[in-house]
Amino acid sequence: MRLVQLLSVILVIFVAIVLAGEPPGRWWTRDLAVYHISLGLSAALLGALLLTRQPWRHWLAGMWEFLRGERHLPPAPAVPEPSPPPTERKPPASEFRPVARDLQRLLRDLEGERRARDESQVTWTPDALRAILHGDLRGEDVIVVSNREPYIHQYRRADGGIEVQRPASGLVTALEPVMRACSGVWIATGSGSADRAVVDANDRVAVPPERPSYQLRRIWLSPEEEAGYYYGFANEGLWPLCHIAHVRPTFRSGDWAHYLAANRRFAEAVVREAKTDDPIVLVQDYHFALLPRMIHESLPDATVITFWHIPWPNPESFAICPWALEILNGLLGSNILGFHTQFHCNNFVDTVDRLIEARVDRETFTVSQGGKLTAVRRYPISIAWPPVEDMVGKPVADCRHDVRAGNGLPPGQLIGIGVDRLDYTKGIIERFLAVERLFELNPQRIGQFTFIQIAAPSRSSIDEYRHHEEAVNALAARINARFSGPAPAILLKVEHHEAARVYEYYRAAEVCFVGSLHDGMNLVAKEFVAARDDERGVLVLSQFTGAARELPEALVVNPYDVDQCAAALELALAMPPEEQGDRMRLMRRLISEFNVYRWAGRMLLDAALMRRRSKLPDNPVITGPAGNGSAAT
Ligand code: G6P
Repeated sequence: MRLVQLLSVILVIFVAIVLAGEPPGRWWTRDLAVYHISLGLSAALLGALLLTRQPWRHWLAGMWEFLRGERHLPPAPAVPEPSPPPTERKPPASEFRPVARDLQRLLRDLEGERRARDESQVTWTPDALRAILHGDLRGEDVIVVSNREPYIHQYRRADGGIEVQRPASGLVTALEPVMRACSGVWIATGSGSADRAVVDANDRVAVPPERPSYQLRRIWLSPEEEAGYYYGFANEGLWPLCHIAHVRPTFRSGDWAHYLAANRRFAEAVVREAKTDDPIVLVQDYHFALLPRMIHESLPDATVITFWHIPWPNPESFAICPWALEILNGLLGSNILGFHTQFHCNNFVDTVDRLIEARVDRETFTVSQGGKLTAVRRYPISIAWPPVEDMVGKPVADCRHDVRAGNGLPPGQLIGIGVDRLDYTKGIIERFLAVERLFELNPQRIGQFTFIQIAAPSRSSIDEYRHHEEAVNALAARINARFSGPAPAILLKVEHHEAARVYEYYRAAEVCFVGSLHDGMNLVAKEFVAARDDERGVLVLSQFTGAARELPEALVVNPYDVDQCAAALELALAMPPEEQGDRMRLMRRLISEFNVYRWAGRMLLDAALMRRRSKLPDNPVITGPAGNGSAAT
């Protein structure tokens, strides 16, 4: 009888592989003999089983249903069950449960692999994302939490009316199209002068204003909370800590207390906004390192996906933070923790390994702490593709004309463009020095080339940012005094520009210079490429951005190397149109495939798989004849 049991198990595994695996066509071409031998073997096994029949018929019938996904094995009972009535089908004998479980897992993995194969065929669009939400996630509750809100309502100075602003934030640029596709709720800090005037009694407002498709839930922070949590711990502590831009982080215990309290307030809001006890919560960025664990304290079945939009430093650098352990423990409350690059995943896992008690598995890239698992994954963020029609609707020739005329530049002026928040990590000083060097080395460019820097004011309550703004202004003035001809060498525009206007500049420029000293991804680089449907224009890109790993067709530079950057600018200005086209086409192809819907879709698919796995019964303890139990793995 034992032999027959064994044979039946082999048969079932074989049938499982044939059912869930490769189509026979590939077996034929790959190895005809193997296929025939396998068929023969399975026929022999089937014959053997039929001969021994009776109790096995039921078992096989049950197994067959199970393999086809029509029946789930019941979990192992904790106490012996009374004998079932004669007509009721018996659950499989306990010695088969581990085998059944392995089969179940095998099928699931095969199904997962097949889905992954199909996924690479998916054209990632808002509809594809919606299909994942309604299919794999069965329309579940999605809540996004970020500090920066996607829409800011402001009173207009001129007439007191209300206008809506879109903030300069890579995070918002990426997540907004995702939320349009998903609906759900986005929880963020209310920051506009008219924000309170437009919300309902629950502090919610439907957005986008022109075509509402999701809810924005605003949290109100007092000026003291904002000073401690946002300006203080998040932007004077964590921001410089995580970016290697040579600005010393400042840690104050008062800021930390506000950071903790603000995280708690957002956690309470998540609990209030959750429609079920197992929502999917997408926690965004370094403002909320403590939130994942806090959410799980109240909603243990929630699936928390945290995305860290900025770099993660090496363990030595991170360890200087007085609350390093609390931050790591908070983040390990996430089910999935995402970074833009594998390098940052590695740094995070190294930091955990060095600083806290947790089991790190470098093969699966998971961290387990107190029996809870966090998967650390790379999800390179991107932008919506294809770009919104309004952004690229205006012909390139008109953009060129309007940008030059609007800035008082001669019609044939060559233009370089930089678009950043006025932040010391963006390398604006270094970029201006490169422009200066370009004029020193190529005097024929004086008066012929103007570098336009759009710099959105940012975090100006912080001293470091104010000093930086002064330094940027002073440097632009100095270079202009040295090199301006009929047109200025540098045009510095410190003001907020709406997206459509920024795209006009991208389309008008000969070269776009992204010179961050350190950056998680940098979406300006991707936006410039998306804007150039004329397949012209050259991207000069800092090697210290996540984007440089995906866009090697850009002219990749070290922003600290002024001579190299000046040479890259000259190379860009002199590049033949065919070469511009070749480079641009390759970059456009990459972004069209790896767009923001794929970024979100991959995370949500991983979350869906994790949720399905978590619903399986726990692995039983297998007891051998001698009674030596061991946990099935
Ligand atoms: C970076 C951060 C975002 C932030 C954005 C703008 O991209 O990763 O979290 O929203 O900068 O900064 P701000 O402080 O204005 O939100």
